[in-house]
Amino acid sequence: MTNENGSVSRRTFVQTTAAATAAMMFPGAAPAAGSDVIRVGVIGCGGRGTGAAMDVMRSSDGVEVVALGDLMPDRLAQCRATLAKSTAGNAALAAKYKVTDDRAFAGFDAYQKVLATDINYVVLASPPGFRPAHLAAAVAAGKNIFTEKPVAVDSAGIRSVLATYELAKTKGLGVGVGTQRRHQAEYIPTIKRIHDGAIGDVMSGQVFWNQGGLWNHARQPSWSDAEWQIRNWLYFTWLSGDHIVEQHVHNIDVANWVLNAHPIKAIGAGGRQWRTDPKYGHIYDHFAIDFEYPSGARVMSMCRQIGGTTNKVDEHFIGSKGRASMSSDRPGTITGANAWTFERKEKPVSPYVQEHTDLIASLRGGKPYNELKQVAESTLTAIMGREAAYTGLDITWDAILNADQDLTPPQLAFGPLPVPPVPMPGVTKLARKWNT
Ligand SMILES: NC(=O)c1ccc[n+]([C@@H]2O[C@H](COP(=O)([O-])OP(=O)(O)OC[C@H]3O[C@@H](n4cnc5c(N)ncnc54)[C@H](O)[C@@H]3O)[C@@H](O)[C@H]2O)c1
Repeated sequence: MTNENGSVSRRTFVQTTAAATAAMMFPGAAPAAGSDVIRVGVIGCGGRGTGAAMDVMRSSDGVEVVALGDLMPDRLAQCRATLAKSTAGNAALAAKYKVTDDRAFAGFDAYQKVLATDINYVVLASPPGFRPAHLAAAVAAGKNIFTEKPVAVDSAGIRSVLATYELAKTKGLGVGVGTQRRHQAEYIPTIKRIHDGAIGDVMSGQVFWNQGGLWNHARQPSWSDAEWQIRNWLYFTWLSGDHIVEQHVHNIDVANWVLNAHPIKAIGAGGRQWRTDPKYGHIYDHFAIDFEYPSGARVMSMCRQIGGTTNKVDEHFIGSKGRASMSSDRPGTITGANAWTFERKEKPVSPYVQEHTDLIASLRGGKPYNELKQVAESTLTAIMGREAAYTGLDITWDAILNADQDLTPPQLAFGPLPVPPVPMPGVTKLARKWNT
């Protein structure tokens, strides 16, 4: 529903007409099962959306990419050009890429238009702040989903995603998520061994994503505040959740996977020391969090995006009988009583492809899996850590899950939009709105 100035409010944005429209236009549209062709639509056609379109085409037979939607016409055009170029010269891939002009949509309602086509599998790869609305609309429209991580940026978003998870389960829809380590050979057997007792009781862990800086798009004179922020979505908490949520959620998800639980409390510190220019919005550039799990285990999480510093992206766990270490680019290892090192026997498959192979196999096998709750919990874990650093307070799971925190601006439209203040421990409140 649009209001008088043509924009869409957050709440009406969610309750859309996508399902009704899809049913009218494509009465036969149904979840993929058996040997159905997987007809894919992509929402958010930037770097990852374009990559995921290629990955899903490579993942399985009987897959076609048929619809694309992006807020920005130039990003949509860039994605179409990249996909046309990347599939040309490979007959198998070229036959799978079927996007025509009438199935390529731009604008704030592009997601509704993609969902109103006869796709049965949607890839959600916009900035995370839009994800709860996109997930809700995709489930309302009866689509199977592959969603990128993280799935929300605030407490209100997580509550929406948890409700969407329940509805997707009721409707029997498959939902895969972009925490690709869960589908990666370097991780799966290592964590299975931990679950089987190889290191005894897990007592503590350390998870890291430390790296340098990331891209930034110089502001153009024609861009409104909102367009500038959305094009530079990494640097605004209402869009990315800050880098602990946007990026470090991968390693936090590994901790929750190893411990088979989410933490009950976070204590943390962080700040903005190197990335201080206003072009970097208002997010932090480093966090260090202590997570306490129900078993009493503690996980130290550290993430940093500061140029000239040491890179480190990996996870470590200490148990009563040994230790385990893992990373996406090194074999998992276990030391101690049950020492072991992962040995790759097969040619490596990209986990970005494998995650679609697995989801599509589950759909065709009639047993769609749904990973939405696990990624919602990992996202909320990261949000809990962020809030411990932002507020300087100890934050419990119950407090963050139930907080009156909704960081999305009331109107989603191009126009004036002040930058929220840089969070200040001791001043910033857990319950707050987008501009506080
Ligand atoms: N699993 C992974 O390893 C991995 C890697 C990279 C990115 N990601 C995730 O993928 C998502 C996208 O990241 P990216 O690197 O592709 O960013 P990007 O900036 O390259 O792409 C985002 C795209 O979304 C579009 N967009 C913005 N708002 C939109 C809206 N309301 N509706 C539709 N489209 C909209 C933008 O115009 C842009 O084209 C993020 O959630 C990110 O965390 C995951």
